[in-house]
Amino acid sequence: MPADSPFVALSHPERLVPVQVDGKELMLPEGENLAASLLAAGVRSFRETPVSGAPRAPFCMMGACFDCLVEIDGIQRQACMLSVTEGMDITRPRGATHG
Ligand code: FES
Repeated sequence: MPADSPFVALSHPERLVPVQVDGKELMLPEGENLAASLLAAGVRSFRETPVSGAPRAPFCMMGACFDCLVEIDGIQRQACMLSVTEGMDITRPRGATHG
C-alpha cells in the first residue's frame, strides 16, 4: 500500500489508533469514517470481485454500491458505514469466495 494518497483529511485527528490491514499495521484516526481513513492512508483497492478478480474501491460512500466491502474480524462489512476503532483486523477480500 503506498503511503501517499490523493485524499487529504479535512481535520486533524485527536488520536491515531493502530489497525491491521492484511497483516500490516496502519495508524488511523479514531472515530473517523473507515473508508475515508483507509483512502487517506493510501489504500487504493478494498477488494477484488469474486468472478473476474477486478479491483474495487469505495464509490458511493453511503452504503449503496458495496464496493468498499472489507472483512473485519471475519465478517464482511461496508467500510463506508463504519468508524475506525482501535485494533480492527481488516482483510481485503481477494477473488472468488465460493468454490
Ligand atoms: S462505498 Fe458504496 S457501499 Fe461503501
